[in-house]
Amino acid sequence: MSIDILVVGAYSREHAIAWKLKQLSRVGKIYIAPGNGGTHAVGEPISIGVMEFDKLVAFAEEKKVGLTVAGSDDPIVGGIGDAFRAHGLRIWSPSKVAAKLEGSKAFAKELMRQANIPTAEFRVFTAHVDALRYVHEKGAPIVVKASGLALGKGVMVCRTVAEAENFLNEVMVKKIFKDSGNEVVIEEFLEGPEISIHALSDGKDFIMFPTSQDHKTIGENDTGKNTGGMGAIAPVPWVTDEQLLDIRKHIVAPAIATMAKRDTPFQGLLYPGLMMTKQGPKVIEFNSRFGCPEAEVYMRLLKTDLLDLLEASVDGTISKKNIEWQPGFAVTVIMASGGYPDAYKRDLPIAGIEEAEKIEGVVVFHAGTRYENGQTLTSGGRVLSVSAVGGTLKEALNAAYQACERIQFEGKYFRRDIGAKALRTG
Ligand code: AMP
Ligand code: GLY
Repeated sequence: MSIDILVVGAYSREHAIAWKLKQLSRVGKIYIAPGNGGTHAVGEPISIGVMEFDKLVAFAEEKKVGLTVAGSDDPIVGGIGDAFRAHGLRIWSPSKVAAKLEGSKAFAKELMRQANIPTAEFRVFTAHVDALRYVHEKGAPIVVKASGLALGKGVMVCRTVAEAENFLNEVMVKKIFKDSGNEVVIEEFLEGPEISIHALSDGKDFIMFPTSQDHKTIGENDTGKNTGGMGAIAPVPWVTDEQLLDIRKHIVAPAIATMAKRDTPFQGLLYPGLMMTKQGPKVIEFNSRFGCPEAEVYMRLLKTDLLDLLEASVDGTISKKNIEWQPGFAVTVIMASGGYPDAYKRDLPIAGIEEAEKIEGVVVFHAGTRYENGQTLTSGGRVLSVSAVGGTLKEALNAAYQACERIQFEGKYFRRDIGAKALRTG
């Protein structure tokens, strides 16, 4: 029997998840709330916002949706999982308490301390004067983080004490991230390459995906402001089996086990961002969902039935599952609006997506787009996620970059060095 699915989200991550689910014969209708300018190709757009839980619940009940898949951080951290389960509806989303691993950096840090998970040395502050005093005591470089969600922009790696003072003022006094800055985490600066780990868990057991790597800053060579992510590759060629085992044993397993021991099992996708330091892998943050743009590269490589995996996570049967991946590499390059992550123009027509998808291995997922009268327009900072697969990392990158050249919109911007560091080290 087929199963109808509701995907909740509006980014390229949810586009990629729906695209993957659509390929399965067991999947009936796919609804996407609210979706974006590209998701109508893979599901029926539903104009309900991701935080309108009552409306989403009513919709799922009315349409007899068999599984709801929550993609983005806001609804997951906001408790969409609890809202659906309270109505006896099946949803793939961690509970609200479990999602605090992402929703509160202070909560995540306390858990890491309890579970002995390697992470940067840190202190949590709610008073501006205390935070300032700590920065003066420690000196620079130092990292200041708003504890709550801030669209990936709430973190400042401060090279000088003055920079840290200024950011603390913005976050704690001017409240540029509103309540997300009521509490700040100040931590030691870690050095090393960053990787993304994804582990699908049912609360007790978990399956780890191959490693991936995002490129967080707007500028090439990892310069400039942090963004939601400017491109991803998977797998990361230089990560060894030994390192993976270390990550499994000292990071993922204790996090899952400690959440279970506290009676708040983490059921969903645990995505620790890691810094591979000279002393070994250390956690920078936990996320309670697929990364974006990491989801896009995983969806391109995944061979196993995605619905089967999501259901195993919901039903507690992960230990019975194997996961298979296509050989080779997947990459994605984010095409952004000129100016992002600061101010940028919207409503600019986009051309060339079809031409880009004619290139072998290329699939274009949408993020900040909208569709109106047959025309795709820009509507956000990160506009498109141009993905490609290839036998080698180089082949995949060549295809993605060729595709980016074929796509046109005024002011288009993308980093030209996605995967370049991995190519050099791998
Ligand atoms: P987060 O939102 O915590 O993932 O931080 C965003 C980005 O800031 C990370 O992806 C890192 O590039 C950088 N970052 C965060 N914490 C640290 C740290 N302790 N040392 C160095 N860089 C960091
Ligand atoms: N890849 C960054 C994020 O999803 O948070």
